[in-house]
Amino acid sequence: MPGVQQLRDKFEQEYVLGVSQIDQIHHEFVDLLAETLNSAGDDFKRMFQRLWEHTQLHFFEEEARMAAFSFAGQDAHKADHDRILKKMEELSALVAAGDHATALDWLASDLPDWFDKHTRTMDGAAVARVLQCEAS
Ligand SMILES: [Fe+2]
Ligand SMILES: [Fe+2]
Repeated sequence: MPGVQQLRDKFEQEYVLGVSQIDQIHHEFVDLLAETLNSAGDDFKRMFQRLWEHTQLHFFEEEARMAAFSFAGQDAHKADHDRILKKMEELSALVAAGDHATALDWLASDLPDWFDKHTRTMDGAAVARVLQCEAS
């Protein structure tokens, strides 16, 4: 199970997909995640909020691209995004109430694990389709 440091270390080899705007968003996501994990107190609250907002933009950007190319895997891909956003919404309520430990745990293990799988499979397939459409 990769942690955020492995995501950073392996970024170039494992997660660069070839559409620069999406690669850029993924890079920012990993940086924001690392920064959030390194923050505490009110900084953590602020960083968690930033990461959540960035994740909404990240998913919106990918879904808009998939819609533009009528990509077949789009519904399953969006469902995976929605699951993560729902979890972040739940955690945001806990963070606001002063429980940072639950969110920290999830950010340290579940979210890097999700990013690793999701980026290599669903995002990889979506980007391959974008590149194929742009080439034709
Ligand atoms: Fe993504
Ligand atoms: Fe995605």
